[in-house]
Amino acid sequence: MTAAPKWLDAVREVARARVDQTRAPWMRRGRANTVHDSIDDILEPTPADSDEVNAAVDRVANTVSASSRWQRLVEICELPRRDIQWMALLTACEVDPRMTRVLAYLDDASMPVEPSPAAAAQFWGWPPGDQPGPASGVYRWRLATALDPDPWRSSTAWAVDADVAAYLCARDDWAGYRPGLRQPDPNSGECLYPNLLDEMAAAVSPILDRGTAACEVELVGEPGSGRRTLLTQLTRAIGLTPLVVPADLGVRALRTARLRGDVPVWVVDSPDTPVVPDTRPGALSAVAREAPSGATPDGVVRLSWRVPRLDRAARDRLWSTCTAHTPPPAALEDWDLSPADVALAAAATPAGPHVAASVIRRRRRAVSLTTMTPLECPYDWSDLIVADQIDAALHALDNQVRLTREVLDDWEFRRLCPTTSGVTALFGGPSGTGKTMAAQVLAASLDLDLYRVDLAEVVNKYVGETEKRLAQLFDECERTNVMVLFDEADALFGQRTRVRDAHDRFANIEIDYLLQRMDTFRGIAILATNRKGDLDPAFLRRIQVIVDFVPPAEPQRRRLWELALPSHTSAGAPLTRQVDHQWLARELELTGAQIKSIALAAAFAARQRGELIDAALLLEATRRELAKHGEILRVTDPTPAGLP
Ligand SMILES: Nc1ncnc2c1ncn2[C@@H]1O[C@H](COP(=O)(O)OP(=O)(O)OP(=O)(O)O)[C@@H](O)[C@H]1O
Ligand SMILES: [Mg+2]
Repeated sequence: MTAAPKWLDAVREVARARVDQTRAPWMRRGRANTVHDSIDDILEPTPADSDEVNAAVDRVANTVSASSRWQRLVEICELPRRDIQWMALLTACEVDPRMTRVLAYLDDASMPVEPSPAAAAQFWGWPPGDQPGPASGVYRWRLATALDPDPWRSSTAWAVDADVAAYLCARDDWAGYRPGLRQPDPNSGECLYPNLLDEMAAAVSPILDRGTAACEVELVGEPGSGRRTLLTQLTRAIGLTPLVVPADLGVRALRTARLRGDVPVWVVDSPDTPVVPDTRPGALSAVAREAPSGATPDGVVRLSWRVPRLDRAARDRLWSTCTAHTPPPAALEDWDLSPADVALAAAATPAGPHVAASVIRRRRRAVSLTTMTPLECPYDWSDLIVADQIDAALHALDNQVRLTREVLDDWEFRRLCPTTSGVTALFGGPSGTGKTMAAQVLAASLDLDLYRVDLAEVVNKYVGETEKRLAQLFDECERTNVMVLFDEADALFGQRTRVRDAHDRFANIEIDYLLQRMDTFRGIAILATNRKGDLDPAFLRRIQVIVDFVPPAEPQRRRLWELALPSHTSAGAPLTRQVDHQWLARELELTGAQIKSIALAAAFAARQRGELIDAALLLEATRRELAKHGEILRVTDPTPAGLP
């Protein structure tokens, strides 16, 4: 068994001397006290402490001065003699609860007495009315907690924090008592942002050397962006030891860091949790926040940086350290991943690249917005039948998205144009020409999830609040790395100047916001409209790629008919009878959507009659399809094979 700490023995000696002094009157009386005796004793002037008590109290002071841990605590928490005694008694009762019986004995009580300021006053001989209050270091540093709701009554019992007690008992594991506090792994890997690290260290060191103010390094970024790691690396780079502390631990966290001589690295997940500033001149604290903090405390120099986005090269380096040199799965190569995403994806990669991609998708899609609907993307390039120039424009767009990151990151063009890193495209053209489908093809080709936003709905549902909704929407799209299709873009993007009603007035403000936001949008946004002519030129100028969809010409119509109406099923069963695709394409000026819906209607009709699909059924279906739009079927060459 190891010996009790010297200070604890010294406290016991005070107890011994105090007990002897309490017993003295009984000894004089030659019998145990009666109630009358006790009352008389209470009303006597308080007797002076015996020489033994005084000597024992001094010995406590000496053992405390000789203990380096006590000295550190006293210095950090600025404890005067009385508060040291208060802490010594609280800690003694914590580590040796039998001391509460001694307190009871001194008070002539039958049940154990938990340490209260009154009990401490009696124990240490403090003058009546003298006790630690709110200004005391014991309270300010939360070394102990009151066990009653009203902390400042003299009879309120207090309990020392368990980690402080362990610290004073010279235990090595004391700092492990607080969950969330941890010493980061010194081998946290290579720094992802070496230039920033140098810049930060060069700014911080002279302030610390000068030592006339405290210094707070603030690093702003999203959770998972590597803030904590960078702050840890910074602390080590300037020769200090970091201790990661959760913000909700408050002053206890700072206390632990100071007792250890470490630099607290605060991680503030909620803006409502204030960090306890270390205002000691020359002290360093590091704080990771999601948004820059407003006010700076007095006496603190705050230096603030933002964690950069991980560029492609750094991301690849991280991939290779996390996966022992396996390249990232193709599905994730172009994603704008944070360091935490990379680590997770790397852990999931052994299960297959698609598992890794879906793990990240799910992680990113924590919040889902009601105004966004996921769109299935079952099509590939061969399904989309468009004129060559449209096809070329779409492929160029696909390429641009792929190349954006390579050009901006690998070739460092992001410096030149820090705001343009997303891709915005406008698909204009009549209904049914494949605008939505083209977005689906692109999303599938780029392996991105596609979400559709009905702008008309956003505008109508959230009058006056559209801007807020749009802000959420853009943020969400950036965060989740999805492709977003703003359908019915004209609902918002009409002429800005035409103000007809309150709706329009709101819409004007919203468009200004939208234009601004689109400039900095990091994702891929496609706007689709049937009324490109109504769009404001100011708006069109900001769109990077404009694709004009036109109704299909004869060659495309032919291809559309062929795809919609193959002669046989994949199993080889016949489907059509004497259908002349060439004739259909030449005679009927239909859009892709119309061709598909006519083919489908004819198929139903044929199935119902137990026949194959033939030209008569197709013309009938066409008549009905055209009638929906108030048009009638006109055929100039009415002799296709099989027509009655
Ligand atoms: N160019 C095309 N190639 C192949 N199929 C097409 C084409 N255009 C339309 N389609 C078919 O029609 C359906 C509807 O087309 P889509 O929704 O893409 O039209 P849209 O241009 O977005 O029309 P709207 O302006 O009414 O939204 C598609 O799912 C597809 O089946
Ligand atoms: Mg559409």
